[in-house]
Amino acid sequence: MAIIVTGAAGFIGSHLVDRLLSGGHEVVGVDNMSRGVQENLEQAFANPAFRLVEADLSDSDATLAVLGPGQRADIVWHLAANSDIAAGVADSRIDIRDTFLTTHGAIEIAKATGARRLAFASTSAVYGDVPVPLSETHGPMLPISNYGAMKLAAEGLISAAVESALAQAWIFRFPNVVGGRATHGVINDLFLKLRRDPEELEVLGDGRQKKPYVHVSELIDAMLFIVAHGGDDRRQVFNIGPHDDGFDVAGIAAGVVAASKTGARIRYTGGDRGWVGDVPRVVYSVEKITRLGWRPTMSSEQAVGRAIEEVAAQWGFV
Ligand SMILES: NC(=O)c1ccc[n+]([C@@H]2O[C@H](COP(=O)([O-])OP(=O)(O)OC[C@H]3O[C@@H](n4cnc5c(N)ncnc54)[C@H](O)[C@@H]3O)[C@@H](O)[C@H]2O)c1
Repeated sequence: MAIIVTGAAGFIGSHLVDRLLSGGHEVVGVDNMSRGVQENLEQAFANPAFRLVEADLSDSDATLAVLGPGQRADIVWHLAANSDIAAGVADSRIDIRDTFLTTHGAIEIAKATGARRLAFASTSAVYGDVPVPLSETHGPMLPISNYGAMKLAAEGLISAAVESALAQAWIFRFPNVVGGRATHGVINDLFLKLRRDPEELEVLGDGRQKKPYVHVSELIDAMLFIVAHGGDDRRQVFNIGPHDDGFDVAGIAAGVVAASKTGARIRYTGGDRGWVGDVPRVVYSVEKITRLGWRPTMSSEQAVGRAIEEVAAQWGFV
């Protein structure tokens, strides 16, 4: 039976597709290509066990029409979302459509294909701006961006679906995820800025924002581990992250400039956060996933270092 991956042409989705295909699974990707690109799926397209359904998942009827009536699936991995937090602050319709309504669409796809399991890419942004180690049972949940708000609402929709359509659901709260094929995020943004101006690198905020980072390869390891070993609880919520308190933006900017070999000077715009909705300091508890028996091999700094090399190659700096 097939595995459905929404957001398949995006950064994390395309890596997940490759991993599932290499495990011998049949995979159906769903993406409206608003941010996803065909190149991310080059490897997948070479495999006859893969097909891509191009559709807007916020319109579940339209997506089901393209998917076709005969498609059966075992599990839906729901990764499609708006990944531009600042865009969603400027126009709240974006997260309602691409983060919330796509979740409704993913549940409808699960129902129509007979998939009784759903795994969801949520985020630390659901917690809001809270200066304490965030555990999965933290409350109240008060997000400070529309993105975080719609992810939290999406978690609620999935929890409710477990009562009716789904047998089991996993909610993974990601930290910042880094690696090659990135479509957004601080490393990607800094390299793109250097392409436009190799002499001066503008960095949003004061450089002291410090967050946990996980490499995309380890994020996928963790999710597959939890689905395989997390037990029978019907609703499972897991933080996924490194065993440290993160890495700062100044360190990332220095690493990007070094890898670019531009020698650019760095200019900070100032202030403790990069944009409205940015959470400058995230402290994550990863006790739950550690108790289950999974831990990453890379620290935040190592994950960032590896991602800088990969994104430098992606944008032609090496
Ligand atoms: N990258 C991170 O650091 C990070 C952190 C926390 C959570 N997440 C979550 O992980 C998931 C994947 O993120 P990513 O970094 O790969 O982002 P991405 O933007 O590269 O991938 C998201 C994909 O969803 C697709 N999409 C958006 N709206 C759609 C719609 N209406 N219909 C169909 N497809 C649509 C986009 O085209 C894109 O390919 C997202 O849900 C994101 O919120 C990512």
